[in-house]
Amino acid sequence: MQNNPESSNSSVLTYPELLAQLQGDRMPRHIAIIMDGNGRWARLHGVRRSAGHKAGVRAVRRIVETSVEMKLEYLTVYAFSTENWRRSRGEVNYLLKLILDSLITEIDELNRNNVNIRFIGSRQELSSAYYRKVMETCTRSWNNNGLHLNVAMNYGGRREIMEAFGEILQDVQSGKLNYADLDEKKVGDYLYTSGMPDPDLLIRTSGEKRLSNFLVWQAAYAEFWFTETLWPDFTREEFLQAIIDYQNRQRRFGARKVQDKI
Ligand code: FPP
Repeated sequence: MQNNPESSNSSVLTYPELLAQLQGDRMPRHIAIIMDGNGRWARLHGVRRSAGHKAGVRAVRRIVETSVEMKLEYLTVYAFSTENWRRSRGEVNYLLKLILDSLITEIDELNRNNVNIRFIGSRQELSSAYYRKVMETCTRSWNNNGLHLNVAMNYGGRREIMEAFGEILQDVQSGKLNYADLDEKKVGDYLYTSGMPDPDLLIRTSGEKRLSNFLVWQAAYAEFWFTETLWPDFTREEFLQAIIDYQNRQRRFGARKVQDKI
């Protein structure tokens, strides 16, 4: 099914027009994206799923470029979940290789653009050779202080919290951490995203409206933005539209803006 411009979030405004609408003082610091719909895009175009994932990488490139241009601080993309191992062996191997190869191909360009890349996810299940190559490539960007790009890879929000529990328990047992000092901020220090702000805006493409185990702890107060657009078709214009929409929302974090009498 082709996306219908009337029912999707697609824009008639041009990129410069949308840029002009952005309010510099209300920029989200951290945007997280569930990039969904590569498979459906492939089916729609009568091509193999692998071609859908390749088109997905081109969309990642587009959105990273736009994020750099906008001087966004943090962008987190969901590349491979702890549940994605349930896909066919062929697709899993293809995705793992595509993600690593893309990273290796793009690292020089990312460095030129001052992008600092982290892989956030679990080491379990990944071979040590794979993990080593990922880390070798990422560390080449760690002196950069522009966009912080998190690639969520073998990532699961519950797994992340479980791993944090384990480390907290160890630190309490060894006396490194006093249990009485444990609060929400301290728990955050044990997550893969330690030291980063929580996502302000969470985008999911392809019409699904689920969190799918993504940033379960961190997204507690994120604003959600859903679009019917399949990830490979996600444009920089639609990305800006999502941000403009976010900027026009009122975030209350559980409080009231006007304190009416009770
Ligand atoms: C969801 O589409 C997409 C994925 C599981 C993989 C996303 C990965 C990429 C776009 C590559 C990322 C690469 C880098 C370097 C960050 P789907 O296959 O679930 O689509 P479907 O629901 O339509 O079948």
